[in-house]
Amino acid sequence: MYNEDIENKNGETLEKKQIIETKRLILRELSIDDLDAWYEIFNSNTISKYLTKYTDKSKLLDLINKKISKYNNSLGSSFSLVLKETNKVIGSFELKHNNMDNTAEMSYVINEHYWQKGYATEGANALLDYAFNYLNVAKVKADCKEHNDISIHMLINKLNMKFIKYEKDYMFDEYLNKMVGFNFYELTKNDYMKTYNRNE
Ligand SMILES: CC(C)(COP(=O)(O)OP(=O)(O)OC[C@H]1O[C@@H](n2cnc3c(N)ncnc32)[C@H](O)[C@@H]1OP(=O)(O)O)[C@@H](O)C(=O)NCCC(=O)NCCS
Repeated sequence: MYNEDIENKNGETLEKKQIIETKRLILRELSIDDLDAWYEIFNSNTISKYLTKYTDKSKLLDLINKKISKYNNSLGSSFSLVLKETNKVIGSFELKHNNMDNTAEMSYVINEHYWQKGYATEGANALLDYAFNYLNVAKVKADCKEHNDISIHMLINKLNMKFIKYEKDYMFDEYLNKMVGFNFYELTKNDYMKTYNRNE
């Protein structure tokens, strides 16, 4: 389900919220109410190996506000991943649209206490479906640090994305305190349709 109209108690439509539902998860528009859940995710030494660590809650709030304002300007979609069973926000997914070449860039993070339960794979598959079948993008791209073995495994083996290139010394890594390389991956709509055996 995409672009669900949210109604107030009088039945008036308030605004559209991007909602994607899977067996165990709901991906809904990011909200400032997600700050505590985000802090749990990003104030973590484990996450800091792969993404920027946030110890300062107000900086994280700035980031959330930036993403919400980008989202409202249709430059991307920031989703919070909600566990249906408990209603807890356990992760974040993002799709940055590039209207110039009709591609989207996907990124994701899951609260480390919820790893290895298949949530990222379930959420990412739903997001690919959304990108190709609803947004109708030609290609979804993703990238990660060269030492991010978990994400590399997920992109290649779970999501069938193709390795495109490696760029040496691409970004400064605060955790390792040195420049690190990045791997870049892509999945075209054609390959997605073949792989997932879906008809356009
Ligand atoms: C990458 C990430 C989102 C995976 O989340 P997840 O919910 O644990 O992923 P899944 O449960 O769907 O597992 C996907 C695969 O990765 C494997 N995996 C997940 N965590 C793992 C770990 N800590 N060690 C080894 N393998 C792991 C799973 O076993 C599974 O592979 P399999 O089915 O062949 O066994 C999570 O590790 C994370 O948030 N990492 C930090 C952020 C990040 O690196 N984002 C990517 C850059 S944008």
